[in-house]
Amino acid sequence: MYKVLAKEMLNPTVVRLTIEAPDVARSAQPGQFVILRVDENGERVPLTVADYDAKTGSVSIIFQIVGTETELLSRKEAGDYILDFVGPLGRPSNTEGIKKVAVVGGGVGGAIAYPVAKKLHQQGAEVHIIAGFRSADLVILEKEFAEISSIFRLMTDDGTAGEKGLVTDALAALIEEGHQYDEVIAIGPIVMMKFVSLLTKKHGIKTTVSMNPIMVDGTGMCGGCRLTVGGETKFACVDGPEFDGHLVDFDGLMKRNSMYRKVEQEHLCNLMEEGK
Ligand code: FES
Repeated sequence: MYKVLAKEMLNPTVVRLTIEAPDVARSAQPGQFVILRVDENGERVPLTVADYDAKTGSVSIIFQIVGTETELLSRKEAGDYILDFVGPLGRPSNTEGIKKVAVVGGGVGGAIAYPVAKKLHQQGAEVHIIAGFRSADLVILEKEFAEISSIFRLMTDDGTAGEKGLVTDALAALIEEGHQYDEVIAIGPIVMMKFVSLLTKKHGIKTTVSMNPIMVDGTGMCGGCRLTVGGETKFACVDGPEFDGHLVDFDGLMKRNSMYRKVEQEHLCNLMEEGK
């Protein structure tokens, strides 16, 4: 059992939980994820490590309440326990040799981008952060982003916080201003990562994206998290979750995800019909 040390609502639907998990905290690195189960009836939920502290043995996860499992997880309070907390899984982010980077986070993807941005800042790299949200009430980690970056652009779709516009607008403007990045790291909705990658491809800037497709076992056995990268099938859980954004087949992944959502909707409808 793993103890919840702290809970914080970052916005009405995004929660940060800090979990006591010394083994995970000792070996976790940015870019990696854990798979947890709330209780014995629970499904396995993959979540990226949002922060970790080997000294206190604590690991933070940030998640959006989007279904039954995350809803159950969001009800946990400091002092409660969750059943399983397995990790770290996946390959760590590669930060070697990066001197100047633009980190682009969309929505809760910003939470996934935070640990790698922090590590790069601690290594002495010049870090620019662009974080995008739909509106002011959904903004998370504003203070944390500002602390580790020399340029921080907050973007909202409706202009209720920061500047009105898309993260790609802000990134294009920074590139136009003459900033030369060794790498762009983009983490967020698939469509956002696709358009960031298209933009950076035009400018010949190396781009890393973090893929979070449907995961089941997290060990490369079930095939649930497969995606096509450079024409080859890869598994996000063991080959990723980070990949070269210029090689990922985003359209194929979006098509597969929408099919999955359709099956899930039909399954829900059937359950509701049966329960009538
Ligand atoms: Fe099953 Fe990756 S989660 S293969």
